[in-house]
Amino acid sequence: MPEPCTYVVFGATGNLSMTKLMPAFYHLDEHGRLESNVKILAIGRRNWGREQWIESVKEAVVPKARGGIKDEVCERFCGRLDYFKMDVLDELCYQRLKEHIHENNWPTNIAFYLSLGPDQFAPAVERLGRNGLLDESDGWKRVVLEKPFGYDMESAKQLQKRLNNFLKEDQTYRIDHYLGKGMVQNIMVFRFANLMMEPLWNRNYIDHIQITHAEDRPIGTRAGYYDTSGAMRDMIQSHLLQLLALVAMEPPASMDAEDLRNEKVKLLKSIRKISKKQVNAQAYRAQYSEGKVNGKAVPSYLNEPGVAEDSVTETYAAMKLYIDNWRWAGVPFYIQTGKNMPKNRTIVAICFKHPPKQFFRESQVKKMDPNWIVFGIQPEESIRVEMTAKQPGLEIQTEQISLDAALKAEVEHSYDAYEELLLDVIKGDRSLFLRYDEVKAAWDVVDPVLQAWASESSYIDTYQSGTWGPQGASKLFDTSEQAWRYHFEPESHN
Ligand code: BG6
Repeated sequence: MPEPCTYVVFGATGNLSMTKLMPAFYHLDEHGRLESNVKILAIGRRNWGREQWIESVKEAVVPKARGGIKDEVCERFCGRLDYFKMDVLDELCYQRLKEHIHENNWPTNIAFYLSLGPDQFAPAVERLGRNGLLDESDGWKRVVLEKPFGYDMESAKQLQKRLNNFLKEDQTYRIDHYLGKGMVQNIMVFRFANLMMEPLWNRNYIDHIQITHAEDRPIGTRAGYYDTSGAMRDMIQSHLLQLLALVAMEPPASMDAEDLRNEKVKLLKSIRKISKKQVNAQAYRAQYSEGKVNGKAVPSYLNEPGVAEDSVTETYAAMKLYIDNWRWAGVPFYIQTGKNMPKNRTIVAICFKHPPKQFFRESQVKKMDPNWIVFGIQPEESIRVEMTAKQPGLEIQTEQISLDAALKAEVEHSYDAYEELLLDVIKGDRSLFLRYDEVKAAWDVVDPVLQAWASESSYIDTYQSGTWGPQGASKLFDTSEQAWRYHFEPESHN
């Protein structure tokens, strides 16, 4: 059982906290994963008291509770909650915060979860530090930073420089919630717990790899953040490059945090830098126009509240990357993400090369599909291996068959990525959090594209909401046989 601690959540009344963090704490409590003396202190600017906070948490948790809310869990959980009103930038409040924790005799192991805008990370850490709240003489102090870590390489460096004055690397938990997803971890298990795959996992057998993250949601109420960020920063720099690193990295020396992160950094650093001249050949961006998603008419990005009227922020981004190492030389990695697409779907698809010789007559072969391994990350959690086999019957007639494993857990065993990550902070396990050099290596990959896009600010392609993105993105493919794959099923690769 992890230790007692005080979890201080900055930005507690915000969207992430209400939709993810509080439900995650509730589920951890329900499953007996929180020590009895774990307190959750919400920090917000609203003039609320404890009771009001508890009521809003209940409202947020009830619809999310898997298998329904349980009265006795709810009572125990609410007993952990408290609210403290303060302005993150007001230095004086931090002394009061410290006193509040001490007066209540709460655990002095403290995790500060900064669910704040990125421009507030450094000011908050500096104030915590100056007011002795990061002093570890009476217990550990850890700071969880939400993404994005910086806006580009330069700002990430500046941010880290400021954090360095008050925070050690082993106190820093840069969160990427994708690393908490069960299927993302399953990629590592699939690769390193099975002997069958490793001999094939390289340039000799793999034609290309695709990573697709599609959402059937628009940007919602997040224009303030999203319009200055865009899909490349929001999804590719963080989540999708992490996925790529796990799919492509070498086996680590062990599953310890440092060994694992060493391998991810090595992989990210091996990604070939995209030159200015290559940006158009290796990256594509577009913005959603109006259309219908799940049968409902939706406005264009430019008509979303809070978006600048001449915005060229991309809601779709795609890249073709090459990894210049022995394992992957010459194998293209295609990554794409978009909002307002027909379905929520995240898949990693590995496409194998064709066998060196085709033995069967044209009449016997419907279509010579390559072998695929498809990881369904979400919403379905699955692994699918596609192969060619003979159809039953006297004649030789081939067909594509698949070995499917649906890995979705029963409701009571399922969990959200944030549950694991919140718990890892208490345990002091940083393997699923990003190290600074990983973040830098990821900025190195996307920075040249972002710079080129920033200099072409008068035009952006569009795709109709409710479609699988812009046609133009298929120009990234190397051959006419390659195409985006959005589905698990072989019949509908496109
Ligand atoms: C967040 C992005 O980090 O991840 C969002 O800021 C995106 O724009 C979300 O929608 C996707 O996460 P998930 O877990 O819903 O796939």
